[in-house]
Amino acid sequence: MPRVPSVKTTVPAVSSGRRVGAPSLYSGDRIGPYTLGRRLGRGGGGETFQATRRVGTQEMEVALKVSPLRYEREAKRLNDEGRYSTFLTYHGAQNIVKVNDFGVVDGYAYLEMELIRGASLRDLLEDANENKILFTSQFALTITREICLGLRSAYNLGVQNNRTCHHMDVKPDNVLITRDGQVKISDFSIAAMRFVGSKFARGIYGTALYMSPEACAMEVEKLDELSDIYSLGVTLFEMLEGSPPFTGNYQQLFRMHREEPFPCGTRGPELQRLIDCMVARDRDRRVHNYDLLIHIIDLTLEELGLTLFPLEHIFSSPVPG
Ligand SMILES: Nc1ncnc2c1ncn2[C@@H]1O[C@H](COP(=O)(O)OP(=O)(O)O)[C@@H](O)[C@H]1O
Ligand SMILES: [Mg+2]
Repeated sequence: MPRVPSVKTTVPAVSSGRRVGAPSLYSGDRIGPYTLGRRLGRGGGGETFQATRRVGTQEMEVALKVSPLRYEREAKRLNDEGRYSTFLTYHGAQNIVKVNDFGVVDGYAYLEMELIRGASLRDLLEDANENKILFTSQFALTITREICLGLRSAYNLGVQNNRTCHHMDVKPDNVLITRDGQVKISDFSIAAMRFVGSKFARGIYGTALYMSPEACAMEVEKLDELSDIYSLGVTLFEMLEGSPPFTGNYQQLFRMHREEPFPCGTRGPELQRLIDCMVARDRDRRVHNYDLLIHIIDLTLEELGLTLFPLEHIFSSPVPG
């Protein structure tokens, strides 16, 4: 089975901004009350580290995303992400990575989050690929349902507060799973631009492998929860088939999501129906809200004679395949 392509396809397609260059911080460095540990990731929005925060004589393990203030645009994005993620955390959004604090310290914008010690959905997919196994339908559907609950919770908070709450970068890398099996959506950096009404929100951002046809067509005004549902459909396809539906460079991917027939899955008509309604190119035919999508996932489980996967055992049993 092919490995998930590691080709870098995160692109700011319209707005092209400076990206964070060489790493600026290393394990052992200190900023403000934080001592940095292992680097967890590095992208357009900054660098993410495991870190220890001193609180008096106590120490607390956290995840810390940082961006030097000299990269004005990234630092602003991180500040926006802080504002938005705090809004979600404060209002008790379900299934999202919680943010403890954000601000500026020692020349860096920072965002302090709860540290997720389990794995990302990307890690689990890579493990499955290495072991040449596919996720079970039960596991893939359960994870998809949990992501849906998180997206719905954030979306509903937006509606209640007259704000736009669309994630815009739904993909396995941005889904983290705690050791006790809670599924949490992370990286609300693109969503935040739209939430705070940043001028950069007029661009198209995201990850081309998972981008909706309307995003690939640069139709910024159309982007909404249906676009997130499309990306979630691509993610579900990848969980079931072991590789994403389309591969290529970002220009090829933009064309494929808009023009190529979405590949047929191999996992039977029930799952095919579900994927079809999530990735319909015609937005009028795409499942149009999270309540309905959750209902359809439940119906699919029922049709397949399955119950939800007991996620609390996920790290105490072998890779679910
Ligand atoms: N709270 C967290 N706990 C553990 N790991 C995290 C946490 N937040 C992010 N990560 C890891 O760091 C990577 C990058 O973080 P993310 O916020 O997605 O930023 P970006 O995609 O802009 O680099 C993630 O893919 C994930 O593996
Ligand atoms: Mg990310």
